[in-house]
Amino acid sequence: MAKLRLSVLVFQVLLLVCVEVKGDRDNGDGRNFITWDDFTVDEHSLASSTGGGRVIVVDQSGHGDSTTVQGAVDMVPQNNMQRVKIHIYPGIYRERVHVPKSKPFISFIGKPNITMNGNEVNATVNANAFNITDVANANALPIITNSTKASDKGSDGQEMGTVSTATVWVESDFFCATFLTVQNLVDKNAYERQAVALRVDGDKAVFYRVRLVGEQDTLLDNSGNHYFYRSYIQGSVDFIFGSAKSLFHECVIYSVAEFWGAIAAHHKDSADEDTGFSFVGCQIKGTGSIFLGRAWGDYATTVYSYCNMDDIIIPIGWSDWDNPSRQGTAIFGEYHCNGKGSNRSERVGWSKSLSSEEANPYLGRGYIYGNTWLRL
Ligand SMILES: *[C@@H]1O[C@H](CO)[C@@H](O)[C@H](O)[C@H]1NC(C)=O
Ligand SMILES: *[C@@H]1O[C@H](CO)[C@@H](O)[C@H](O)[C@H]1NC(C)=O
Ligand SMILES: *[C@@H]1O[C@H](CO)[C@@H](O)[C@H](O)[C@H]1NC(C)=O
Ligand SMILES: *[C@@H]1O[C@H](CO)[C@@H](O)[C@H](O)[C@H]1NC(C)=O
Ligand SMILES: *[C@@H]1O[C@H](CO)[C@@H](O)[C@H](O)[C@H]1NC(C)=O
Repeated sequence: MAKLRLSVLVFQVLLLVCVEVKGDRDNGDGRNFITWDDFTVDEHSLASSTGGGRVIVVDQSGHGDSTTVQGAVDMVPQNNMQRVKIHIYPGIYRERVHVPKSKPFISFIGKPNITMNGNEVNATVNANAFNITDVANANALPIITNSTKASDKGSDGQEMGTVSTATVWVESDFFCATFLTVQNLVDKNAYERQAVALRVDGDKAVFYRVRLVGEQDTLLDNSGNHYFYRSYIQGSVDFIFGSAKSLFHECVIYSVAEFWGAIAAHHKDSADEDTGFSFVGCQIKGTGSIFLGRAWGDYATTVYSYCNMDDIIIPIGWSDWDNPSRQGTAIFGEYHCNGKGSNRSERVGWSKSLSSEEANPYLGRGYIYGNTWLRL
């Protein structure tokens, strides 16, 4: 009897321990979820490495921990298990940044130049008052910039190719960025001038109030589930491209196409790949005519819902990339969009005006399994 009681007790203790460990993993420091805390820096406790996570300051004046963003990333230990916030002070950082696979849980948090616009840019206090599409505000953001292009030669003497040109390349999981401009400003007259500003290969990434500025191939949204929220993405041809599964929510999509361009070039070769681009509540505007999407692969998937489209959408709307066979397999849809560009009367017949049932899976954060990794 006593033996039985003892084993019950041991079992209960073990159960408690298990619950405790599990609790830690899921909630304790919340590290398997991205929360608003991951986008903020408590300036009063910079030295502390507990609670809000470790902070590394990047400041070109030399008063921080590093003068370059890459220098700060290099300071993060391999296989770190805790969030590290890289606080990027005002300035123009002319560099290329690589966040390797072995360094998850990194945040890039820009500190706007508040002396530039006075109270208008009081971002840390009132993020909602900060309007990222307003150029005056945008100029106050720290900028990471470069101008590497597809035809540049790599260390092996060969042309680098589009995918290797990114100004910022994120390979790790659980990455966050906010209050930052990432750009690739390529020479307009150069040959083979595809030039990526941001490439994302990591899973579970959030870009909140980030500006991505480029021309052809601005955002290589390569793989993983990603959430772009209230951000600004500028480009010309195929400027959001790749094989990721992403939700673009309340973003500004800005075309600088010269002759023609395309917003999305989603890449999907098989119906089994769980990927796609969903634009919800976005504003689509700019200066050049664009397609909503081009089918890169037979099963390319791109849906626009509740978006406002200016008069810059090429009336047929969508392109099969000269592969008529893709017309039967690509999923190109529109749902409850408005604005002059949303008129579907001349759209290609194989694109779809979605029913509410068809649109439903694309509309919320559930599209990117947000309930398993987002607490925003
Ligand atoms: C691009 O980045 C490289 C490597 O970080 C740097 O040496 C170079 O000066 C940068 N070029 C421009 C134009 O920003
Ligand atoms: C911040 O803005 C002010 C006013 O425009 C400017 O003088 C200053 O150089 C800026 N600081 C940085 C680091 O860019
Ligand atoms: C930011 O806003 C807060 C609250 O409105 C205010 O107290 C503070 O002075 C502002 N800071 C700057 C630098 O404008
Ligand atoms: C943000 O600024 C842009 C450009 O000035 C303006 O068109 C837009 O209405 C503003 N958005 C909000 C929510 O204030
Ligand atoms: C849509 O476009 C067609 C043809 O271009 C035009 O006749 C029609 O009036 C437009 N509809 C709206 C609501 O603007």
